[in-house]
Amino acid sequence: MNRSLQAGLGPGVAELKAQLHRYIIDQLEDETDNLLEGPRQTLARFVAGKVGEYTRQAQFAVSRYEADRLTEELVDELVGFGPLEVLLRDRSVSEILVNGPQRIFIERNGVLHHSDLRFMDDQHLLRVIQRILAPLGRRLDESSPMVDARMPDGSRINAVIPPVALDGPCLSVRKFSRDMLKSADLVASRSLDQAILDFFRLMVSRGCNVLVSGGTGTGKTTMLNMLSQMIDPRERIVTIEDTAELQLKHDHVVRLETRPPNADGHGEVTARDLVRNALRMRPDRIVLGEIRGIEVLDVLTAMNTGHDGSMSTVHANTAQDALLRLETLVGLSGIQVHDRTLRQTICSAIDVVIQLTRTSDGRRCVAEVLEVVGLRDDQYVTNTLFRLEPGIHGGFVREALNPAGDKLRGTVGQSGMPGLGGR
Ligand SMILES: Nc1ncnc2c1ncn2[C@@H]1O[C@H](COP(=O)(O)OP(=O)(O)OP(=O)(O)O)[C@@H](O)[C@H]1O
Ligand SMILES: [Mg+2]
Repeated sequence: MNRSLQAGLGPGVAELKAQLHRYIIDQLEDETDNLLEGPRQTLARFVAGKVGEYTRQAQFAVSRYEADRLTEELVDELVGFGPLEVLLRDRSVSEILVNGPQRIFIERNGVLHHSDLRFMDDQHLLRVIQRILAPLGRRLDESSPMVDARMPDGSRINAVIPPVALDGPCLSVRKFSRDMLKSADLVASRSLDQAILDFFRLMVSRGCNVLVSGGTGTGKTTMLNMLSQMIDPRERIVTIEDTAELQLKHDHVVRLETRPPNADGHGEVTARDLVRNALRMRPDRIVLGEIRGIEVLDVLTAMNTGHDGSMSTVHANTAQDALLRLETLVGLSGIQVHDRTLRQTICSAIDVVIQLTRTSDGRRCVAEVLEVVGLRDDQYVTNTLFRLEPGIHGGFVREALNPAGDKLRGTVGQSGMPGLGGR
């Protein structure tokens, strides 16, 4: 009697696929041509033939549609990225998180979903990860079990494998979005409101140094991109990132990217090297993707010495913590700076901190806009300009109407009527 796939759809298909996979691999080994290296179409024809042959022999009743789908999936598994193929192609998916072969999560419209796609086993997942990394020249094995890389389309990937990852290989893909969200999108999704946007425009045009702060995935890079778009198109900008994500439309943009050391431990180019080099390139502004290490003092110095309007991001949970985080990073760099001098450097470098957050319903928004005014008794004096109103409706409150700093005077106006423009 014919076995029908419909009868036991879930495990039936998965099992058949696993059997077919083994069968086809055996058959491929008998072929004289290496079909895996040839055109996809030739391989697809071969696989389709084998799917027909095997299902007839094993007496599985498979519809034409099911056979086509099986063929497509098997080809993806043989030469492509397996179950990731569909997800990478699906433009509505922004993030893919794989925690071992059986658990794949995807993010759509800011919400994380469990996907019913699976890898066959650890080996299968590992093969796909290696296949992604191979053309990027990046290495992943027991002796270096973590890797960060960028795919040719700009998507960012991170992989961690055993022995460090205890439950099998893990992979995170932050897909590159062709069009980063623009200010209108952020207003529409209530990440900020028109008054805050008007303030940001003035803040940028007056050359304030800005620090965007937030946790992982809160939208720091997206905000940095939006703010950078507000820079006068005649200005010369140098961007420095670990993986180039910013999409600036300016004529005068020089994009620099750091480089990890190669397998022999040579050839590393750090953010610090690039910040120092950028200063020799006569930029009007420096946009640094993230302050995460020893480059912190160089950036603060740049902000204090004629590169007004520079911007960066930092990983912190509140705007106040963002300032402390800068202090910690200086401390970790091993460079000895007196506490008071350090705070003074930070105060005069940073004009505004924009704190981002994710609300309980997944919305990414501005939590606070903080003006850094100065130091009193060695403590930071700050001024909250806007903050998110807690609660379900989550509107924004304009706190201070009169920023204290010279650069910001008159920038927080009545709704829709920001202060004077110009620098
Ligand atoms: N305001 C927003 N509304 C909706 N989606 C957003 C918003 N800001 C960012 N996103 C989306 O959230 C994801 C993460 O954004 P982004 O890369 O800017 O965050 P991040 O804080 O820089 O992350 P990381 O900490 O990994 O560097 C992206 O897919 C982006 O398109
Ligand atoms: Mg980022």
